[in-house]
Amino acid sequence: MPEFDIRPHATPIAADLRAAMLQDPGFGRVFTDHMVLIEWNEEKGWHDARVEARGPLSIDPACAVLHYAQEIFEGLKAYRKEDGRVVLFRPEANAARFNRSAERMAMPELPEEAFVEALEQLIRIDRDWIPEGEGSLYLRPFMFGSENFLGVKPSAEYKFIVIASSVGGYFKGGKPGITVWVSDHYTRAAPGGTGAAKCGGNYASSLIAQKEAIGHGCDQVVFLDAAEGRWIEELGGMNTFFVMDDGSLVTPPLTGTILPGITRDSLLTLARDEGMTVREEPYAIDQWQADARSGRLREAFACGTAAVITPILAVRGHAYDFTIGNGGPGIETQRLRGALTAIQRGTAADPHGWVRPVL
Ligand code: PLP
Ligand code: COI
Repeated sequence: MPEFDIRPHATPIAADLRAAMLQDPGFGRVFTDHMVLIEWNEEKGWHDARVEARGPLSIDPACAVLHYAQEIFEGLKAYRKEDGRVVLFRPEANAARFNRSAERMAMPELPEEAFVEALEQLIRIDRDWIPEGEGSLYLRPFMFGSENFLGVKPSAEYKFIVIASSVGGYFKGGKPGITVWVSDHYTRAAPGGTGAAKCGGNYASSLIAQKEAIGHGCDQVVFLDAAEGRWIEELGGMNTFFVMDDGSLVTPPLTGTILPGITRDSLLTLARDEGMTVREEPYAIDQWQADARSGRLREAFACGTAAVITPILAVRGHAYDFTIGNGGPGIETQRLRGALTAIQRGTAADPHGWVRPVL
C-alpha cells in the first residue's frame, strides 16, 4: 500500500461555525473538512492514497458508475468517549463486508489495513468534528468504477473515497420509535441477486417503496422475500429483531438476500453471551400480525449503524395494521440498546475486542 499523502485544507471551517453546525446535526448533512482518496487501475493496483480538502469530484460524463452503477459503500461510526479518547466500532468487520461487496460487484478488493488506515487518517485530521455526548462521526467509505467507457463490463479503474459526517439520531425529532410500512408490491432482493452486498443499486431500487411508506405516514419499509412475498427480510436500511413473550429473540436468517448487519451480529453475540435464547429463523408477516395481536410477540426493533436500535411501534400495509406491545419502546429493546451503546462508547467491558482506539 502507498503511504498516505496528507494535504490539509487551506481554509477549514472556522471553529465557531463548526460548533454551531454540531449543535443539532441530524443525519448526513454536516460534513467534515477532509476526505480520503485512493485510486486503483489495472497497471498500478491501489495507488495515490491521499487526505485532502473535501470538495466536488470532477468526473467525465462517460464515467462507468453513472451508467451501470458499479458502486459499493460502508457505514460505521467513531465515538468520543467520556475521557476524550476516540474509538471505532468493529472497523475490521466493515472492511471484510466491503470486500465481500466488492467481490459480488466484480470490483478490486482493498486490503483491510488500507481500509482501516483510511478511516483513521480521516478521524485524526477531522477529530474536532466528532460531536460530544450522544452524537458520533459517521464514516462513509465507498468505491466506484471510474473508467470512461460505455461498454458493459467491470470498470478498469476505481476510486475509493472516505467522507465523514457529524451525526445525531437517524430519525428526525427524536421520536420514541418508528412505524413501518409493509411493501407487498416492491421487493428488495432475490436469490442470486445483490441483497447481501452493500451496493448503491439496492438502495436506488428501494426508494419507490420508501416513498410509498412516507406517503402512508410511515418511517421505513419492511421488505418481504421475493419468492413467496411472505417472509420478513429487513427494512430499507436496517435489520429487524423480534422479542417474544418467552424472552427469546428472533431475527431473519442470512440467506443471501439481506445485508449481514454488523449491529445484528453484535446483538446476536451479546444476547447469546447473556444466555438468551436466540433464533435466526424465517418469520412470516402474517405471523407477526397474529403474534402482536395475541401478545406472543412483545417487542420489535430495527438495528443498524445509523439507526442503532430503534423500537418499531406499529406496522401498516394494505393488509396490515397493528401495534407492537403497548405502542411504546419495549423494555428489552431499551436494555439491549443500552448494553450495545455502552460497549461502543467505552463505558462497559468489551469482551470481544470490538472497540478499536484511534486517538
Ligand atoms: N440492512 C441494510 C439494508 C442496511 O443498509 C444496513 C445499514 O448498514 C443494515 C441492514 C445494518 O447494517 P449495520 O448494522 O452493519 O450498519
Ligand atoms: C447505515 O446504517 O450505515 C446505513 O448505511 C443505512 C442507511 C439508512 C444510512
